[in-house]
Amino acid sequence: MLKLTFFKVMIIGLGLTGMLNATVLVNYKDTSLLKPVNEDDREKSLKAFGTVMEVIKSPRCINCHPTNDIPRQGNVHRLHPFNVNRGEDDHGGLVQKCATCHHKENNGYTNVPGAPHWGLAPKTMGWFGLTDVEIAHALLDKSKNGGRSPADLVKHMSTDSLVLWAWNPGKGRSAPPVPVDEFRKALDEWLETGAHIPDK
Ligand code: HEC
Ligand code: HEC
Repeated sequence: MLKLTFFKVMIIGLGLTGMLNATVLVNYKDTSLLKPVNEDDREKSLKAFGTVMEVIKSPRCINCHPTNDIPRQGNVHRLHPFNVNRGEDDHGGLVQKCATCHHKENNGYTNVPGAPHWGLAPKTMGWFGLTDVEIAHALLDKSKNGGRSPADLVKHMSTDSLVLWAWNPGKGRSAPPVPVDEFRKALDEWLETGAHIPDK
C-alpha cells in the first residue's frame, strides 16, 4: 500500500521533471552564450563538475534532496521512519518538526544527526532517482534552485551548514567520497572555467 503510493508519487515527479527540463535546456544555453566557449576550459570544467557530482550523489547529500516528501537515511537510502515528511515549509509536519529531533549538532548519545537549520531541500531541488544530466540541469535552473547563479551555488556548497555536515556526519555514517578541500577546489575550478555541465 505504502509502496504503491510512493511509486505513483515518483512517476508524477519524474513526469513533471521531464516537462520542466525542456525549459531548463533553453535557459542554460542562453546564459552559456555570454561566455566565449574555449574547448580546453570546457573539458576542465566538465572534469571538475564530475567531482562535484560525486559528492552531490553521495548518500549524505541526496538523502535530503528527494523528489518526493520523505527524507531518506543511511547508505541504502531507506525511507525516514516515524511518518516524517516535509510538511508545508520543508521543516516537518505540524507535530513532527525536524528540529524536534535534529538539533544544531550531532547528538553523541542518540546518534541523531544535527546541524543548524536542519530541513528537507525543497521539492524543486530534489535529485533522488534523477540521471546525472537531469541533476545537472535541475541544479543550474534558477526556477528550481532558489534563483541561484553558478557563483551562488558554489558559495552555498562551500559554506552552508547542511552541506558541511556531510563531512562530519556522526558515528557510523560515511562522508562523501571526495575530501572537503578537494570538493572546494573542484567547485572553484568549475566556476572559473565557465561552469559547464554535460550535454548528455
Ligand atoms: C522523531 C524524530 C525525528 C524527526 C521528527 C525527524 N528525524 Fe530525521 N532522523 C531521526 C533519527 C533518529 C535519525 C538517525 C537514523 C539512523 O542513522 O539510523 C534521522 C536521520 C535522518 C537523516 C539521515 C541522514 C543520513 O544521511 O543517513 C535525514 C536526511 C533526516 N533524518 C532528515 C530529516 C528531516 C528533513 C526531517 C524533517 C522533515 C526529520 N529528519 C525529522 C529522527 C527524526
Ligand atoms: C539535512 C538536509 C540536507 C543535507 C544533508 C544537504 N542538503 Fe542541500 N539543501 C537542503 C536544504 C533545506 C536546501 C535549501 C536551502 C536554501 O535554499 O537556502 C538545500 C539546498 C541545496 C543547494 C541549492 C540549490 C539546489 O539546486 O539544490 C545545493 C547546491 C545543495 N543543497 C547541495 C548539497 C550538497 C552538495 C550536500 C552534501 C554535501 C547537501 N546539499 C546536503 C538540505 C540539505
